[in-house]
Amino acid sequence: MSEPDPAELAGLAGLACALAQEAGEMLWTRRGQVHVVQTKSSPTDVVTEMDRAAEELIRRRLATERPDDSMLGEEGGQTGTGALVRWIVDPLDGTVNYLYGLPDWSVSIAAEVGGTVVAGAVCAPLHRSLYSATAGGGAWLRSAWLDGPQRLACNTGVRLADALVATGFGYESGRRRWQGQVVAEVLPRVRDIRRAGSAALDLCSVAAGRVDGYYERGVHYWDIAAGSLIAREAGAEVAGLAGRPAGESITVAAGQGLFAELHDLLARLDPERDG
Ligand code: IPD
Ligand code: CA
Repeated sequence: MSEPDPAELAGLAGLACALAQEAGEMLWTRRGQVHVVQTKSSPTDVVTEMDRAAEELIRRRLATERPDDSMLGEEGGQTGTGALVRWIVDPLDGTVNYLYGLPDWSVSIAAEVGGTVVAGAVCAPLHRSLYSATAGGGAWLRSAWLDGPQRLACNTGVRLADALVATGFGYESGRRRWQGQVVAEVLPRVRDIRRAGSAALDLCSVAAGRVDGYYERGVHYWDIAAGSLIAREAGAEVAGLAGRPAGESITVAAGQGLFAELHDLLARLDPERDG
């Protein structure tokens, strides 16, 4: 596969959707069995046995369906090298919500070809929603609440003062202290702030127009790989500051017009430092 054609892209997206749904259903079915088994970057950064079980399930399925591909997963890291297609998997984005029985958690799966994300899916079982996108093919929502697939379009032309802006906070207390100062400067300048607890879903919310914009420092590639494609395919700009790519340092997403205003506000607030 050099430049994937639309049928190949649809195949990758279809598999991402099927696996995200299967893992999401397993997480929902076994939600009562959840315990913290490890902490990572800080005592609040938890891993449950269900994060691991969901990633294991996805790894097993990919090994059967696409044995030549490689995969980067939040829990198991990178397996396989040199493959043309790499899968980027967050088996449970919003682990803290899942642990507490809050509904904003998701399974996020993206497919990269030659280093570029070309297909992705985010499944949010408690929203009964499956978001997906292919490069150039638009972003779509399938939901038990809808009659058929709905093409997503982000909000455009929203002024910063009218914007509902989602954000998130890292797990390390020094970083949080500074993030609190940044958000304290953003809050009086926007309609309101939302902190849902799943970066993948935040980006899908931008795509669906449920929020106008999103920014966060400290997200990992697996948190945003699928959601960024979904937001972009819905018309949003997704990037870092000063023309840098979106990523761990900071990710900003919003529709036309708002992106520039949100970007410029954040750039003045020095959000890429830690307290
Ligand atoms: C977290 C969520 C959260 C974001 C954190 C992420 P996890 O992922 O996406 O919304 O604020 O930065 O680490 O730990 O639940 O997979
Ligand atoms: Ca995550």
